[in-house]
Amino acid sequence: MSRVFSGIKPTGAIHLGNFLGAVQNWVAMQDDYDAVYCVVDLHALTVPQDPAELRAGSLRLAQVLLAAGINPDRSTLFVQSHVHEHPELAWMLECTASFGELRRMTQFKDKSDQAGDGGSGFISAGLFTYPALMAADILLYDTDAVPVGDDQRQHLELTRDVAERFNSRYGDTFVIPDAIIPPAGARIMDLQHPENKMSKSDDTDSGTILLLDDLKKIEKKIKRAVTDNDSEVRFDIAEKPGVSNLLSILGAVTDQDPTALADEFDQYGPLKTATAEAVIERLRPIQERFFELEADPAETQRLLKHGADRAQEKAAEVLARAKQHIGLLP
Ligand code: TRP
Repeated sequence: MSRVFSGIKPTGAIHLGNFLGAVQNWVAMQDDYDAVYCVVDLHALTVPQDPAELRAGSLRLAQVLLAAGINPDRSTLFVQSHVHEHPELAWMLECTASFGELRRMTQFKDKSDQAGDGGSGFISAGLFTYPALMAADILLYDTDAVPVGDDQRQHLELTRDVAERFNSRYGDTFVIPDAIIPPAGARIMDLQHPENKMSKSDDTDSGTILLLDDLKKIEKKIKRAVTDNDSEVRFDIAEKPGVSNLLSILGAVTDQDPTALADEFDQYGPLKTATAEAVIERLRPIQERFFELEADPAETQRLLKHGADRAQEKAAEVLARAKQHIGLLP
């Protein structure tokens, strides 16, 4: 079976965009792949953060993933900092990537600009080397494929380039991973500003559905979603971003094609009602399972320890290979 690896940062609350764009797909892939999923807490350290929030956020994210259907008997689910091989390999990859290559990363440019204007003003060295740690995450598991959103494609390209360079300098060491691009309808936009991606910043609270939002609140947010001034239900992202977003959400939640779904509605009201109901039915059991897990943190910690042990078995093997090939003394 080929292996997939993906990671998610434990910062901020998880929202419907993360769930439909990534997590739901992770759950589905468990059937067809040997899947390795990682809560990337070390990546969260690249920007200013609060220690208590980070700790709680990592546990909560693991519980959300379990509640959403990641099966720890089938997939490997673990926390990045529990497997010390990640930062160890990252160092070797920092020394294989070039300064110029890292400087061209658009995520670094965006985030360092944000820190500059109006942000904390602090740009960590870790923010700059972030992609080398991400490459280590992927390469440590002989990963064949990585499901990533558009914003991470450049990092995956860099991972491939660095792995190829390492292999050609030091001999065959890493498997070169491919990207798996999620289906187009999986791009979920803000309910109030449908030209922007749904995100977890608080100034768009009414446009963002959090996975753990009260179900009544979710219904309200969907009913207040912006549409447009005519009344034709049609999937057309450029001309009708608000309506298309509702169709994307309904399609992603019920596993149907948004263009075909449009034919079933001739008014916005019923589309909103159907979307709200479908989202609520989808999230209700996930929330119930989450609250059970939340009541027993020791059980989640046990599952994460089990995941880290499994991950480490593989990671140690690949790290040893890399150390040997690069010339470190055994
Ligand atoms: N950088 C990714 C993001 O911000 C998270 C991530 C870290 C990741 N390591 C990874 C994703 C490895 C895929 C594979 O979304």
